[in-house]
Amino acid sequence: MINGLKKLEYRGYDSAGVCVADNNQLFVAKKRGKVSELEKEFLNEYGICSVKDGSHPCEIRSELKEVKGNMGIAHTRWATHGEPNEINAHPHFDCKKEIAVVHNGIIENYNALKEILEREGHIFVSETDTEVVSHLIEKFYNGNLEDAVLRAIRLIEGTFGLAIICKKENKIVVVKRGSPAVLGIGEGENIVASDAVAVLPYTKKVIYLSDNEMVVLTEGNYAIKNFEGENVEKTIDEIKWTAGEIEKRGYKHFMLKEIFEQPRAVGNTMRGRIDNDFNIKLSIDFDLKYIKRIIIVACGTSWHSGLIGKYLIEKIAEFPVEVDYASEFRYRNPIVGPEDLFLVISQSGETADVIAALKEAKNKGAKTMGLVNVVGSTIAREVDSGIFLHAGPEIGVASTKAFSCQVTALLLFALFLAQQKGVKVERELLSELKRLPAKIEEVLEQSGKIDPIAEKFKDSKNFLYLGRGMNFPVALEGALKLKEISYIHAEGYPAAEMKHGPIALADSNMPVVFIATKDHTYSKILSNMEEVKARGGEIIAVANEIDNDIIKLAKNIIMVPKCREELMPVINTVPLQILAYKIADLKGIDVDKPKNLAKSVTVE
Ligand code: F6R
Repeated sequence: MINGLKKLEYRGYDSAGVCVADNNQLFVAKKRGKVSELEKEFLNEYGICSVKDGSHPCEIRSELKEVKGNMGIAHTRWATHGEPNEINAHPHFDCKKEIAVVHNGIIENYNALKEILEREGHIFVSETDTEVVSHLIEKFYNGNLEDAVLRAIRLIEGTFGLAIICKKENKIVVVKRGSPAVLGIGEGENIVASDAVAVLPYTKKVIYLSDNEMVVLTEGNYAIKNFEGENVEKTIDEIKWTAGEIEKRGYKHFMLKEIFEQPRAVGNTMRGRIDNDFNIKLSIDFDLKYIKRIIIVACGTSWHSGLIGKYLIEKIAEFPVEVDYASEFRYRNPIVGPEDLFLVISQSGETADVIAALKEAKNKGAKTMGLVNVVGSTIAREVDSGIFLHAGPEIGVASTKAFSCQVTALLLFALFLAQQKGVKVERELLSELKRLPAKIEEVLEQSGKIDPIAEKFKDSKNFLYLGRGMNFPVALEGALKLKEISYIHAEGYPAAEMKHGPIALADSNMPVVFIATKDHTYSKILSNMEEVKARGGEIIAVANEIDNDIIKLAKNIIMVPKCREELMPVINTVPLQILAYKIADLKGIDVDKPKNLAKSVTVE
């Protein structure tokens, strides 16, 4: 279970816990901090805390016991309700400490349920929403855990992936609504997890659960049922990723490994999708001629790739595109209907806001499509059609290779649309696209040249990133990468907008990163650089041609290979990823697990 938690740590790492059932007793250990802290707990002289009737699991430390149980539940947390500490860490228990629960998601009506349960005499020890689940199950428990769980979840509003054990029964009950759950079918063992990466080292045979399904694991067996308790037939899928792909393989961090994997990842996104006659092959199985508009919806880095998608699709396929944050789309009255193609972008395929927006668009009759990396994820299964990124597993919390693959997939999609609509595409663009992995490789080979820049600016308190056109979302992405892993405040802006406010901040203390590769806005970017320089600002420029102007303006230049404008977003983002990584690493930050973040944001 500890190994499984380590694979899931990208989902949250502020506290962790395990509970093992052995001989009708529950043993639990919980720890604030990363899973490695919990692991150490097992090794110290106190060992595992024994849960005894009437006592809180965290207060009792028995002598080291050898637990021989053959079933258990475990959790690594990203706090939503209640600060990260041992009391709030999962598993959570009922009053008698007989039922243990781990939970992903949010119980929205937990306050109302808690009030009722407290009135009935239940004693709560944590500030979490999850604890109401254990007390509700206790309330309904009558010797049959499955029944009690089903009765409890009928009262719950919100989302959940719940795993529950009871010391009186030799089974694990898992129920899912809105949070992911996958069953791994191993040799002499079955494992349920919230992501296939946790089961991958043990088995490649998996069953992805759908909403409103339950798995009951008993010794050597499993049964999948709906919430009415009826058996459900499911197909067994095979995970295509290998266990080696989720190892660091000598790199200091997953993020660094994933940055360096980009040539191969982007190559995989393109593989088999451009034939020898330069036709784009995508299996999109609805008729695009009925589509009048594309609405792209995503969060974070995926939203940035969506913005680039807008530029690409409008430029290449002459098709109108709107881009929205999933969280904003969802909570207004979005005008969307059958003539719209609703395109969601998500590495994980599990981002709660994106799933909610997708459901909304589906209800309103839009055609839906997904650009998703994780096969079998909720979004991948919900959309009408899609393009898998084939980036391989992305473990580092800061998204890198998924971004490059998303932009590549959007480029392919723009070309595909142009082809469908009969819009002429320059052959040179297609042949240059095929060389994209090699061009990324060129950037990576020069990565050492970024070291002095990282060293020079690592103690800066603020950064500004500026770009125009397709390089504006690149600026946003560069700023996001820096702030999320190095904790330096950074903002991305369209370069021309700088004059409308941010220029007030320009001074010798604020480095300004200009994405200044040669495109039709180059002369304008140079003017913006002049404006910053005139105010004493120090410029870091990402450039693909050295001329007198840029030498005069930028003291720090990061060179990237020349390419067509359409390929620049991918190529220009790579050095910004490297810069952010190096600064964060110099500051001694655990780049793969930056504070407060979780890779997969499964709460709204
Ligand atoms: C930033 C980052 C996040 C994700 C966002 C969406 O580096 O990783 O901003 O891009 O949480 O996640 P997905 O793409 O999984 O929907």
